[in-house]
Amino acid sequence: MQKQPSTARPLGWLNRRHFLKAAGAALVLPAILPGCTMSAPRRPRAANRITLGVIGWGMQGPGNTRNFLNEADCQVIAACDLDANRLAKAVSTVNEHYNNRDCKAYHDFREMFEREDLDAVMIAVPDHWHGIVATEAARHKLDIYGEKPLAKTIAEQQAIVRAVEKNNVIWQTGSWQRSQALFRKAAEIVRNGLIGEVTHVEVGLPAGHHDFPSTTPELLAKLKPLGITSLADVVPGTEAWNLAVSEPPTGLDYNFWIGPSKMEPYIAQRVYQNWRWNFNTGGGQLLDWVGHHCDIAHWGMDCDRSGPDEVEGHGDFPPANAVWNTATKYRIELKYPHDIIMTIAGGYPDIRSGTKWIGTDGWVWVDRGGFDCSNPELKKGKSLPEALRKVKLYESPGHQRNFLDCVKSRKPTITPVETAHHSTIPGHLGLISMLVGRKLHWDAKSEKIHNDSEASQLLTRPYRAPWHLA
Ligand SMILES: NC(=O)c1ccc[n+]([C@@H]2O[C@H](COP(=O)([O-])OP(=O)(O)OC[C@H]3O[C@@H](n4cnc5c(N)ncnc54)[C@H](O)[C@@H]3O)[C@@H](O)[C@H]2O)c1
Repeated sequence: MQKQPSTARPLGWLNRRHFLKAAGAALVLPAILPGCTMSAPRRPRAANRITLGVIGWGMQGPGNTRNFLNEADCQVIAACDLDANRLAKAVSTVNEHYNNRDCKAYHDFREMFEREDLDAVMIAVPDHWHGIVATEAARHKLDIYGEKPLAKTIAEQQAIVRAVEKNNVIWQTGSWQRSQALFRKAAEIVRNGLIGEVTHVEVGLPAGHHDFPSTTPELLAKLKPLGITSLADVVPGTEAWNLAVSEPPTGLDYNFWIGPSKMEPYIAQRVYQNWRWNFNTGGGQLLDWVGHHCDIAHWGMDCDRSGPDEVEGHGDFPPANAVWNTATKYRIELKYPHDIIMTIAGGYPDIRSGTKWIGTDGWVWVDRGGFDCSNPELKKGKSLPEALRKVKLYESPGHQRNFLDCVKSRKPTITPVETAHHSTIPGHLGLISMLVGRKLHWDAKSEKIHNDSEASQLLTRPYRAPWHLA
């Protein structure tokens, strides 16, 4: 359905990026966007809206974009993807929505960021790109809706935090669970002391590898005569590997797609969505989900600016050079201040999916579509009774809506960059502990691992030239 132009922008609200860019020069808001068609009826006018560029048209990008398209005070004016087919789909989706041809296509996100008429960006690219794309966006003073996990390494996360703070841009993380009533209710139960003092927190995440785009059955059928039943068993130098390698599809700029990571031969089963299952580009189920359920755990624990002191993880891993090499099963024990013990686990039935806080007087558990509590009185309703809400947590009207509101008000979003950084650190440290095979001692203030140079090296990663983190 075509969107109607709105005059909803509050008086005095002014495009901050235009303002910053125009400081010392005449401020000119463009009346007409580049590429717009004069004939298009009821075309949304950028001067009345937050202009948005969307980057990454895979599994998550389109859903985020749809929610932005549905907001009358936002106009998507640019789309970017390294796959020409997906990019064409992104542009046509946006243009069909507005019934115009104003959305411009970009292959290179850096070119998009040069646009003077862009206010904000939505970034939904694979994790190995988050650091570079997000810091570059912040450097261009663009407000950012960026996906979880904040980045591929703790060093990249720190760079994003610095860039966002230095450039004073608004950040919303894709950890949308905080915008849902039941997650807030669960966290408020904990924060209001209704389960007593928290002693244990359980964070249950998925295990194994999930073939999102269903690209593996075809390859596994080819590999069956070789006795191979999993991509975790396919390693270089074997016939199976040779069968897995192919030319990249027409339309995908694979060299750009690999970007700062190590160049590897193209294997369809580790590119779209399944990039999660190889450490060159993703962090497995642990890093895919820690930004959701540990994010909620921290909300209840009031740990948005702090973290664990000790982290010890154990995991089952395929061979390091296999097509899919991320942990198939893992369990991480973390010690937080005030002797709170957190367990993050994937593949252990005693740790239920979602987030569970256990206290001296009871427990509460929450997951997508699920909520339970030791106190039957607290089970009713989507929110806590007002009388019990002495501590009230941030209420958001919807994750994308909250971002747009904060772009206007310049107030922090419900999941600002520091929160995302701290929500994901336990996952990164758990992985490092598993890889070096010992307990880590973490200084949450200085964000350093004590006395362990091997583990400390894994806080960052090498970059393939010419890419580097600004
Ligand atoms: N918040 C959530 O619930 C949620 C759910 C799914 C995914 N995600 C996150 O969204 C991000 C994307 O995941 P996905 O499953 O959509 O991946 P995907 O592989 O399905 O899509 C990523 C898209 O980005 C494009 N791309 C890659 N590098 C690019 C670059 N440098 N510039 C422009 N385009 C580029 C790819 O061609 C692809 O079309 C990840 O960070 C993931 O963790 C979040």
